[in-house]
Amino acid sequence: MSLTDPQFKSLFARKSLQKLLTEAGDESGGLKRALSATALVALGIGGIIGAGIFVLTGQAAAKYAGPAIVFSFVLSGLASAFSGLCYAEFASAIPIAGSAYTYGYATLGELVAWIIGWDLILEYAFGAATVAVGWAGNLISLLQDHGIFIPPALLAAPGTGVVNFHDKLPGFEALQNRWTELPKIQEHLVNAGFLKLQNGQLDLSSLAANHIEYHSTFLNFPALVGILLVTAILVIGIKESANFNTVVVFLKVALVLVFIALSINYLAQHNWVPMTENWKQFIPPNTGEFGHFGWSGILTGAGVVFFAYIGFDAVSTAAQEAKNPQRDMPIGILGSLAICTVLYILVSGLLTAVVPYTQLNTATPLADGIDLMGVAWGSLLVKVGSVLGLGSVMLVLLLGQSRVLYSMAHDGLLPAWAGKIHERFRTPYVSTIIVGVIVAVISATCPIEDLDAMVSIGTLLAFIIVDAGVWVLRKQQPDLKRAFTTPLVPLVPILGIVTAAAMMYGLPLKTWIRLVAWLIVGLFIYFGYSRHHSKVQKDLAATA
Ligand code: ALA
Repeated sequence: MSLTDPQFKSLFARKSLQKLLTEAGDESGGLKRALSATALVALGIGGIIGAGIFVLTGQAAAKYAGPAIVFSFVLSGLASAFSGLCYAEFASAIPIAGSAYTYGYATLGELVAWIIGWDLILEYAFGAATVAVGWAGNLISLLQDHGIFIPPALLAAPGTGVVNFHDKLPGFEALQNRWTELPKIQEHLVNAGFLKLQNGQLDLSSLAANHIEYHSTFLNFPALVGILLVTAILVIGIKESANFNTVVVFLKVALVLVFIALSINYLAQHNWVPMTENWKQFIPPNTGEFGHFGWSGILTGAGVVFFAYIGFDAVSTAAQEAKNPQRDMPIGILGSLAICTVLYILVSGLLTAVVPYTQLNTATPLADGIDLMGVAWGSLLVKVGSVLGLGSVMLVLLLGQSRVLYSMAHDGLLPAWAGKIHERFRTPYVSTIIVGVIVAVISATCPIEDLDAMVSIGTLLAFIIVDAGVWVLRKQQPDLKRAFTTPLVPLVPILGIVTAAAMMYGLPLKTWIRLVAWLIVGLFIYFGYSRHHSKVQKDLAATA
């Protein structure tokens, strides 16, 4: 097959803008236009603030950047802003639920669109599964704090295992009489001599000698229930989903503001001495290894905390449900991104000013910070905030995934029934339920490890295509009406591509290998099914 072969050229067949704009304007029996600018900003914040700021900030500061984690947040915030500006132009010009997938279809052709649609599953579905596991962890901890115990077999995915300390063992005092996932503390247990190794394998029977009970697990029941609940809200209606999200966002932003206020108050009361002490080495010197402190550490830190920004782009998948997408899409995307960037910079700066960065590699860095300030209800506040906060992240990511699948089904790349809209609720209920059930099963049964890196690499790839697409569309359709225009094209798209590519480069090799494997599976599906059912291909054949 040569490059001029019609078969080859058809791989890059584009969906006509005219058709897209007609679809965007056609509301009969379609998605319901119910979202205001405020609801869209809340949707963005709902998707953004989550595990990233609550957990990864501390870990990235302790392991890679020190107090200069603030610069990491600035860097990944900038990278997100470049792509955010490109998303804003597309979402205002082509307000269609498919987001990056549709933008790819309109500019770079069907194969690229398919790759992006398939890739977005990494961001939205895998993202929701990762967050669901974190959400379940917070919920279980909160319930146990209040004496409510779920049967241990239902606390985690198969193969994880949980332990319960019946005695107050040195170094593990806080874990007495509660179930804790074994992998989270197994290294400490081995180091403390409470868990023995036999031929390099864990000897679980050795735990009994110290009155530590072990129980195997077979289902993360809270994660399953959490995803199914969120799915139910999404099926019932976009207005109901947005209202739920807005209330949760209000509470989680309040929580972040409480943390900021408490930190400033604490530092002021101590004449800012902790800050001077903890920031003495704002950029700790590099250890000699790339990515461990120094400037390279800031870069690695940026790649890690990028996860905290993921979610703003999901606003664009709600374009067909916005009341006035041309005006409000850019407000939703850029407004939520701007608010969260400011909050993130403040939180990360204050956290490292209050707590020495070396002590931040814990599962609950923000709660530890509040505890250190002597506020007794800090941990409770952060746990409640995390349960709520992560709940809305799951909602927004699942919303994004169902809308992308809906668009793909609409275009014939997936079976048509997947794109069905509920008559009364006016939501894409089939794609929402399919996504919800699959994500629920994954989060309940797969031991999720390193999945956040997969989510980040998938998102960054989508950003690159969107950035390139804006530039391409400017050339292809210079006169297209754009309610919002990305400034300084091609500079901003180029900067978006370069920064996203730099962050992808910083991710581990195994993440790259998994990405390639994922895309290969996607290509099999494309050539096996989608290409033969694509409406664009059918139109092409008819014209020929
Ligand atoms: N930005 C989202 C989070 O941090 C995905 O949880």
